[in-house]
Amino acid sequence: MTKRISLTQHLIEQQRLHNKIPSELRLLIEVVGRACKSISHAVGKGALGEVLGSAGSENVQGEVQKKLDVISNEILLEANEWGGHLAGMASEEMETIHPIPNRYPKGEYLLMFDPLDGSSNIDVNVSIGTIFSVLKAPDGMTTPSEKDFLQPGTKQVAAGYAVYGPQTVLVLTTGDGVHCFTLDREMGAWVLTQRDMQIPADTKEFAINASNARHWYPPVKRYVDEVLAGSTGPRGKDFNMRWIASMVADVHRILNRGGVFMYPADAREPDKAGKLRLMYEANPMAFIVEQAGGAATNGDQRILDIQPEKLHQRVAVFLGSKNEVERVTSYHKE
Ligand code: AHG
Ligand code: MN
Ligand code: MN
Ligand code: MN
Repeated sequence: MTKRISLTQHLIEQQRLHNKIPSELRLLIEVVGRACKSISHAVGKGALGEVLGSAGSENVQGEVQKKLDVISNEILLEANEWGGHLAGMASEEMETIHPIPNRYPKGEYLLMFDPLDGSSNIDVNVSIGTIFSVLKAPDGMTTPSEKDFLQPGTKQVAAGYAVYGPQTVLVLTTGDGVHCFTLDREMGAWVLTQRDMQIPADTKEFAINASNARHWYPPVKRYVDEVLAGSTGPRGKDFNMRWIASMVADVHRILNRGGVFMYPADAREPDKAGKLRLMYEANPMAFIVEQAGGAATNGDQRILDIQPEKLHQRVAVFLGSKNEVERVTSYHKE
C-alpha cells in the first residue's frame, strides 16, 4: 500500500525542509482545513440538515445570502477566533473586518475568505467551495483596521480553496507549489493526493458567462469570437466551453487539465470593475494559478500587483493557461 501523507505531515515536512512555514501559519492552515471539513459536512446534509435556501438577508455586495453562506461564515469565524494565530479576519459576507475579540490572544496573521463560493449552485447540488487568503499583519500592529488588509496579492503568505463536490478537496499554496488533499470522509483526514499541480500553457477550453456577451468590451468579444471560429478561424483549432458558475470548480478544472477562465469588466459597470472580488476571490486564485505555472491578469496588469483600495473591491479576471491569458491580455493593449 502506498504511504498516506496527511496535511499535518505535509506541512511539518515542508517546515523542516525549507523552514518556510512558521508553526503559527501551520496552525492557521490546519484550522482553516478543519473548518472546511465542518462546512463540507453541512453542505453534504443538504435538505436533511435544513441548510438549503435563502437566509432572508443581504450582504454588503447586495446579494441575497443563502443559509449556507451564513453558516459557512460562522464556522470559519468560530474556528479561527480562539487559536491565537490571527489578528483579524475579513469575509465576503461581512461588511467590515472582524478583529479578534479581546478575550483571546492575538497572532500576526490576517485571514480573508469567501466562505461559500458558487452560492447559486447550493440548492441544485452542483460543486461549491471555500476560498481563503492569508496576509501578515503589519509589524507591531495590535488591533487591525481595514487598511491593514489592503495589501497587494504578492504579499500573500498562503492561499487555498476547498471544493465540495463528488469529492471534497483542499488545494493549497504557501508559495512553494500547489498541492491537493482529498478528504477521507471515514477518517476525517486530509490526505495528499496531488503534489505540484501544473497548468498546461496551452489549452482548447475556455470559461465565460456568455449570456453577458452583448455587454463585453471589444478585446473580450474579439478573443471569444476567435475561439468560437474553431479550426477554420484565426486560431486554427476547435475550442470547447465550460461554465460551472462556481469559480472554485472552474479553477479546479483548469488546475487539472488547463483552460482559461474569464470574468471581464463590461459596459454595465461604470467603473469597469468585474463581478469577482479582489481580496478573497481573485488574489488567492491568482496566487495559486501562478504557483501552478499559469497566469492571472485583469486585462491590464497582473492581478497580484494591484494595490487594493477597498475591502470588497471588484476586479476583472482572466486566469489559467499562460499563453491564452497572455493573448487575451494583449488584445486589451492593442
Ligand atoms: P459567490 O457565490 O461567492 O458570490 O461567487 C459567485 C461568483 C463565482 O463563483 C462565479 O464564477 C460567478 O460568481 C458566477 O457568476 P454568474 O452568475 O455570472 O454565472
Ligand atoms: Mn456571494
Ligand atoms: Mn465567490
Ligand atoms: Mn461567496
